[in-house]
Amino acid sequence: MQEQFSQEPAILGRDLKDLEKYGKDGTAYLGKVVMSSGEKPVLGREVRVDVSRPHLMLICGKRGGGKSYTLAVLMEEMARLDPMIRNRVSTITIDTVGIFWGLKLPAKDQDAKMLEEWNLKAEETNVKVFVPKGQLAFYQEKGLPVDGAFTLKCSELEETEWLALFRLNWMDPQGVLISRIIQTVRDKVGTYYGIEDLILATRNDSDAEDAVKQSVISRFQLVNSWGLIEKNGTKIQELAQPGTITVVDVSSYRQTGGAEGVKDIVVALIGKKLFEQRMLFRKEEEIKLVTENKRSSKMPLVWLMIDEAHMFMPKDEPNIALPVLLEWVRVGRQPGLGLILATQRPEKLHPDAISQCDIFISHRMTSQPDIMAVGALRPTYMSTDLDKLFSQMPKQKGFALVIDDNTEKIWMIKVRPRFSWDSSVTASAFLI
Ligand SMILES: Nc1ncnc2c1ncn2[C@@H]1O[C@H](COP(=O)(O)OP(=O)(O)O)[C@@H](O)[C@H]1O
Ligand SMILES: [Mg+2]
Repeated sequence: MQEQFSQEPAILGRDLKDLEKYGKDGTAYLGKVVMSSGEKPVLGREVRVDVSRPHLMLICGKRGGGKSYTLAVLMEEMARLDPMIRNRVSTITIDTVGIFWGLKLPAKDQDAKMLEEWNLKAEETNVKVFVPKGQLAFYQEKGLPVDGAFTLKCSELEETEWLALFRLNWMDPQGVLISRIIQTVRDKVGTYYGIEDLILATRNDSDAEDAVKQSVISRFQLVNSWGLIEKNGTKIQELAQPGTITVVDVSSYRQTGGAEGVKDIVVALIGKKLFEQRMLFRKEEEIKLVTENKRSSKMPLVWLMIDEAHMFMPKDEPNIALPVLLEWVRVGRQPGLGLILATQRPEKLHPDAISQCDIFISHRMTSQPDIMAVGALRPTYMSTDLDKLFSQMPKQKGFALVIDDNTEKIWMIKVRPRFSWDSSVTASAFLI
């Protein structure tokens, strides 16, 4: 791990061929290599990470270790890519805590001081924050900078998604009724219907008991009050715009009773849509490559960033977003879908997310089951005593081990200070 000083940046996730051809174009500046021991180590060369091709990145570390901060740094870098590359890349971040709107403001206090030491400047970052339509007024009242609202298209929720939303299964009488209602309405009106249509169809159902009908109707009414699921949904192209960093804020559902499954549905539907669209455009791209010998596509390379990923990809419980994200993990790279997952509980995360990742960033971990979960699923070069490496890691925030499957190297780094305001220091949107 002892590093020689070098002016050349270390680039994670880029093979030799791309390195020779593109140098450091299309990479994100993540931090600097730690060159010495101690609490204030000497920092060496830049560490950058390739974002011009899809990868599966996993960011681990205990709570407060710097995972969301590192995600924010990556988002800042996506927004600052050279326009040629940036316009082929779109980034969507699922914000479960309501913190990434802080990117819109320049850093202050501690971060601003650190930036000076790094010869960097505080700067706002161009991100677009979308909140559920029903929450827009709330955000605006609080003066939080929001760019728009999103909705999910009612007809795009399949029976399984409705059941997941209500945490019901096929055996529940309510589950049976809901499945029947969705099918009936779909057969009758096609793909343009809203919650009111579902309520009406439930009222008119002649087979179900009244109590079951009433319980289903109140569930649908609850959904209606969220202002999230409507006849018209936000087009996926609006969320995945080339050259744009989009934050999809689902944090409001943390506190809404009966809405525990909502963020899962949002991730499942967005993930599914992106996957489908990307498969279609991929075909178009291939044809162009053959006929015109150039790579171009209206649908950009997509990066999906998911904080608290164990919520959506749990190991031991079902989750409606899980099969969708597993598809990304297993075959997403080929159609240009990159995934960045952050979690404090690798032990609770689906093992495929750990074994398939090609860039691994770990802030300090202290829980043995979590360390073992990672150690067990990574190739042998990584079982080099993670414990020992963590014990050598300075205690301050922002240090991390990074491991690149390409070079099979482990580096200890300090993540760079962020340009923009770390709103998580004070509070999330809903605690202000
Ligand atoms: N690279 C870093 N440089 C400086 N401070 C950091 C860095 N990473 C994290 N921190 C500090 O640690 C706090 C917690 O980080 P955060 O990313 O929210 O943790 P996590 O998401 O892992 O729970 C941040 O609010 C910030 O003050
Ligand atoms: Mg966090």
